Amino acid sequence: MFEQAATTAALIRERTALAPRVALVLGSGLGAVADAVAGAQAIPYEDLPGFPRPSVAGHGGKLVLGSVAGLPVAVLQGRAHYYEGGRADGMNLALATLKALGCQNLVLTNAAGSLHSEVGPGRLMLIADHINFAGVSPLFGVQGNERFVDLVDAYDPEERTRIKTLAEGLGVPLAEGVYVWFCGPHFETPAEIRAARALGGDAVGMSTVPEAIVARMLGLKVTAVSMITNLAAGMSDQAISHEQTMRAATAAAADMTRLLTAYLKELGDG
Ligand code: HPA
Repeated sequence: MFEQAATTAALIRERTALAPRVALVLGSGLGAVADAVAGAQAIPYEDLPGFPRPSVAGHGGKLVLGSVAGLPVAVLQGRAHYYEGGRADGMNLALATLKALGCQNLVLTNAAGSLHSEVGPGRLMLIADHINFAGVSPLFGVQGNERFVDLVDAYDPEERTRIKTLAEGLGVPLAEGVYVWFCGPHFETPAEIRAARALGGDAVGMSTVPEAIVARMLGLKVTAVSMITNLAAGMSDQAISHEQTMRAATAAAADMTRLLTAYLKELGDG
């Protein structure tokens, strides 16, 4: 399965001796996290067969290889979204390639709308579980029994505990909750937001879930953190827009960078 991944991994090995242990996917406005990578070598996605061709402003479209606090990492700057081409499998090959390169952990980040007015823009939310409201799977068309992926504890409980402890030590407020995946690219209606909250959701967004699903199939340990950029539709007088999401994400990226750097350091030490 994902045969292309071995070929692309070999291509990356020709360009770098670095063997990444952790892969990170950066969401909208979080490009600054890549600046924390030392000895960074960037490979544009165009050079990597199977990698996505993102079309969203704020998603750079490159793989950055280097180390954070001594830990070799691969940072995916830019992701494919379901809404771009109507396929949920846009990240499958990139993630399979990183697994083939030796990554064991995957850290997913995103921008999200909050379903709780007390967890407002600028706050971080650790994803404990998800609800798939897009109704599609990145594994459509995949053959074999591996496709029947168990999603209990998809967001690794031990890693969640680790990251919560780190956040507390750093003084970074960290909510924890259920991320609800909507297909986008339109934002939700207020009725959809009320439904998502009534069903147990805590934040809404347009990414991450397909990546977590394929990562679990690949056997990667998944940790995911949302950066809250807005209160969800109907919850505030402020209009929701991509521009506003980007502004709030850039302003709040500092906490995310501190938390992720500390987490990567701990993974490297452990
Ligand atoms: N809805 C969906 N995706 C988002 C939002 C939102 O309110 N904010 C940032 N990404």
